[in-house]
Formats: sequence, structure tokens, C-alpha cells
Amino acid sequence: MTVDKAALYARVRTSLAALLSGETDATANLANTAALIYDQLPDINWAGFYLLRENELVLGPFQGKPACVRIPLGKGVCGAAVVRRSSLVVPNVHRFPEHIACDSASRSEIVIPLSGPNHFLGVLDIDSPVENRFDELDRAGLETLCSLLVHHLAPDGSPLSDVLCRI
Ligand code: SME
Repeated sequence: MTVDKAALYARVRTSLAALLSGETDATANLANTAALIYDQLPDINWAGFYLLRENELVLGPFQGKPACVRIPLGKGVCGAAVVRRSSLVVPNVHRFPEHIACDSASRSEIVIPLSGPNHFLGVLDIDSPVENRFDELDRAGLETLCSLLVHHLAPDGSPLSDVLCRI
């Protein structure tokens, strides 16, 4: 069965808005966002966050197998997305130089920056056991979800230090 990705992401966005509504705790909001994505998106084996701490990414709330805790900037798909300041869709992780394998079942990956005009909080990382799992519809849908989350974590573009203190 083909998934109607536009409809799927519209539904997930509505659910995420409801989950975030009225809640200001950043850890709770990151954890519920990871859980919602993991529960709702088909064919994924890991979904979660790496948060920017000084000069490295550190594991945040996630769903899936235990994962590597620290990723230097520029390393792995996550570190590359931070340096490029843009989303990365990797159809085959085995062909991505320096991909960091946390689960040997992973075949494809998408990483979305968590950023606003004045801040860069980290990344959303999603792995799939299916090669070529993610496309431009996933990228657009997930960027919309991340934008909603960042607005909630950093309303009015709060300074990065303020937001990270609350995570
Ligand atoms: N594959 C990621 C590392 C994190 S795990 O996939 C959860 C990377 O290359 O940055």
C-alpha cells in the first residue's frame, strides 16, 4: 500500500501541535515529539534528537535502540547536517562517508536541523531499515514538524543559551 505522505504529515502535525500545547518543559516536548514520530512513521527503526552542547552533539530524547552519545561536529550524517546548516537525506548510509552506525539494521537516514533565525539547537535524526526510505515529501513534512517544535522551545527566538538551559 502506498502511503499518502502529505496526509500523514498533516495528521502528525495536528497531533504534535496538540501534544505541545500548554506544555513548556523542553525535555518532555522533545521526548513526546520523538515518540510521536517513531509511532506514526512507517518503516523506521530510530527517531530522536542530538542537541548542540558547546562543540559537539549529545544524545537527547529518542526512541529505538541505544545510540552513540557524542558526535563531533562534521562527523556522521548528524554532524554533517550541522556544518551544512541544512537537512540531509541519505538514501544508502553505506555510501555516506563517515556515517556512524548505531544500529546495523539501518539502511537510510534523514537529518533535519532544529534551528531558528538566531539559534541552532541540534538535529532530529531518523533511521530506516529500508534503503531509499526518505524523499522530498519526508524532508518537507519533517521540516514543518521541526519548525513547530522550535517555535515552541524558543518562542520569540529566545537566545540559544536560554533554550539549552531548559533542555
Ligand atoms: N547515523 C548517525 C548517528 C546516530 S544514529 O543513527 C542514531 C550519524 O551518522 O550521524
